[in-house]
Amino acid sequence: MRSYKVLTFGCQMNEHDSEKMSGLLAAEGLMKSDTAEDADLIIINTCSIREKAEQKFFSEVGKLKELKAANPGLVIAVSGCIAQQEGRKILRRAPHVDLIFGNQNIKDLPDLIASRTRGNREVRTDFPEAYEHELLPAVRTGTVSSFVNIMFGCDNFCSYCVVPHVRGREKSRRPSDIVAEITTLVAGGCREVTLLGQNVNSYGRGLEGTDACTFPELLEMVDGIDGLERIRFVTSHPKDLSDSLVEAMARLPKVCENIHLPLQSASDSVLAGMNRKYTFASYMEKLGKLRAAMPGITLSTDIIVGFPGETEEDYRMTVDALESIRYDSIFSFKYSERPNTKALKMPGHLPEGVKSARLDHVIDLQNRITEEKNAGCVGKTYEVLVERPDKTGDAGRVSGKTRGGKIVNFAGGVSLVGRLVTVRITEGKKHSLVGEMV
Ligand code: SAH
Ligand code: SF4
Ligand code: F3S
Repeated sequence: MRSYKVLTFGCQMNEHDSEKMSGLLAAEGLMKSDTAEDADLIIINTCSIREKAEQKFFSEVGKLKELKAANPGLVIAVSGCIAQQEGRKILRRAPHVDLIFGNQNIKDLPDLIASRTRGNREVRTDFPEAYEHELLPAVRTGTVSSFVNIMFGCDNFCSYCVVPHVRGREKSRRPSDIVAEITTLVAGGCREVTLLGQNVNSYGRGLEGTDACTFPELLEMVDGIDGLERIRFVTSHPKDLSDSLVEAMARLPKVCENIHLPLQSASDSVLAGMNRKYTFASYMEKLGKLRAAMPGITLSTDIIVGFPGETEEDYRMTVDALESIRYDSIFSFKYSERPNTKALKMPGHLPEGVKSARLDHVIDLQNRITEEKNAGCVGKTYEVLVERPDKTGDAGRVSGKTRGGKIVNFAGGVSLVGRLVTVRITEGKKHSLVGEMV
């Protein structure tokens, strides 16, 4: 076996898991292949957050059947959240799959491949002890900006969500391990980290003795790493957002003035059904504190429309909230039924047509707001961290982000990659800004 291809379908955590798989395979001497057609090993790293993601996986794995027929030596592996959820059952619908491994079994990948070459077809989806203290080598997609896990799993059990079922219990990494990993990344050219966890605000729960650390304390430690320029984090659960976090964000120079704070719904009865453990008023109070401490802060959120029992009035409250809060960007979804979740058995499931109409309206509304906000950036100057040559392949142009997380494209040479520059915005687009260096 000489080459591999990892196909990634999930969130940032899933993306970073793919980077770890690449790291393990590179250490085994395998080369990354540009296309699935040229690879001896294909890993499909799956997401199970909504039904659509699951359908996409089965169509994707179906497409690989022909490749496998043409090349019987090809090894097809399935990892990630569908692998964790469905395990062996995947083989029924996709018998051409060679091995299946779960979210906490990534380190076993070389072992599983060796086992496959001996003729076995393994399914490994257990939750081993102390896996959160392992550091797997990762081949990251970008060097300037890197993902770093600070915790795994989730204990919140929002009633619609599969994540606690497919990622297991919440566990935090030791602060010393996190700081050591970031220090190494910075030595290799990294300038920005995004700290990853399903609920970073509860980081540190379960850490004891000399490892004891809260999220604001962790930010303080990471802020002290020489050569690092910027710190971001996802995701914050509103119920656990503390005053000391707001204070730390405002005070620490490297922590960006930007937060993704999922609202889900602005109706208290829907929030209660979702088991979110905050009210709209308490969410707004926290948002007020963030805005007071950091007037320029950029905001994004997640919205679910059509949760079971959501009335027209509930939905209107969410629309009104989007109009009044004016997020810089949002991710919005139709409620999707997921296995093993509480919401599945709740009364009042809504017809697809109602959910779609609500979602379409939310998307149109937010597109307008995002465009207005981006247009409002024109003429202003921002500090931009240059991440890469422009994706459109336009030679002589580079792409980076403001501290607020907005993508900016402008004329400049590749030597700027990894540097902080000042850019004046000349045009606001739907999903990005265009500017010129000053
Ligand atoms: N831990 C993070 C991210 C969870 S998944 C958080 O709590 O914010 C990302 C988003 O997917 C969620 O915020 C939610 O808006 C959406 N989501 C999760 N389950 C869903 C479901 N069953 N149907 C529709 N959207 C869902
Ligand atoms: Fe899912 Fe809620 Fe956990 Fe986020 S906090 S991963 S939405 S259960
Ligand atoms: Fe992420 Fe999807 Fe799993 S959102 S945690 S890859 S279910």
